[in-house]
Amino acid sequence: MSSATLEVHLTDEDLTAGLREDVRLGLTAEPKWLPPKWFYDARGSELFEKITELPEYYPTRTERALLERVVGEIAQVAQAEILVELGAGSAAKTRLLLQALTAGGPLRTYVPQDVSGAALSASAAEVAEEFPQLNVHGVVSDFTATLDNLPRGGRRMIAFLGGTIGNLVPAERADFLRAIHDVLEPGEQLLLGAGLVIDPAVLVPAYDDAAGVTAEFNRNVLHVLNARLGANFDPEKFAHVALWDAEQEWIEMRLEATESMTVEIPELELTVQFDKGEQLRTEISAKFRREGLESELAAAGFTTERIWTDADDRFALLLAERR
Ligand code: SAH
Ligand code: AVI
Repeated sequence: MSSATLEVHLTDEDLTAGLREDVRLGLTAEPKWLPPKWFYDARGSELFEKITELPEYYPTRTERALLERVVGEIAQVAQAEILVELGAGSAAKTRLLLQALTAGGPLRTYVPQDVSGAALSASAAEVAEEFPQLNVHGVVSDFTATLDNLPRGGRRMIAFLGGTIGNLVPAERADFLRAIHDVLEPGEQLLLGAGLVIDPAVLVPAYDDAAGVTAEFNRNVLHVLNARLGANFDPEKFAHVALWDAEQEWIEMRLEATESMTVEIPELELTVQFDKGEQLRTEISAKFRREGLESELAAAGFTTERIWTDADDRFALLLAERR
């Protein structure tokens, strides 16, 4: 029986220390905010998987259909021996890529990376089972902190799918793309999936679904603060807000206090006051234009070789070469 190995660069203590820092910074700021990586404990990762199946949430199925169409071309250009996937989560769509890269190609190692140890250990084990010819080596780490622990020793492609690039604010995004550039060798590839700017009438419901799954995903960050820092948030007293910022071209998810509240965070000896109607920003999900993506990649030292989009221009896959 094949099995996956797991390398953990983020212990439970590291996660708590990182969360403490972010909470101290974000919940004492005006307006209040938290980084989106804290959604993803085991429950948050499960809720995200449920989101991907919602009728309103088009990105996952659009990207999957695109991948189905173009994986052959990607595999031909990439000739990858090692596939590294950042923010791999359940790696559901990655199966398509792995099939194409192994069918007559040189792929021998798959390295899924994620901040969510629960999601990663499950998906790495499943992939190892499905692809017994591959070495599957999971890495639990924060891709905004360091990429230095990613393996070398073969021609690599780094995949960053799902549009997760849009969850980084522009300065973070530039640093992140530059960091990917710096870990790759000249000639190695980045495969990037990104949501495109589309009609807000389609976009907003994708982040505010009728069944309320996204609302629960949004509130999950408060459950994480309660569990990790002993906070006493009542998540049900926060309403889910999703709005389209037409100037920044991003969706912003917020949690709105439905009444005035005082929240205690004993581990930080912090008391946080919320006024009724006050909003806490929990995520941005930026959408892109092709030219913008190409120029951000160029600024980070990549040459875009191919861009594929779906028929409705909702999602793009870019294959870029590290210069
Ligand atoms: N790639 C998958 C999952 C996208 S959900 C898809 O396309 O469907 C975003 C994933 O990124 C989650 O699994 C989450 O745990 C992970 N993630 C978010 N922020 C992260 C960070 N800073 N470092 C590592 N992984 C992160
Ligand atoms: C992971 N990421 C690309 C998702 C997105 O669409 O920005 C996270 C998400 N937030 C709300 N729904 C899904």
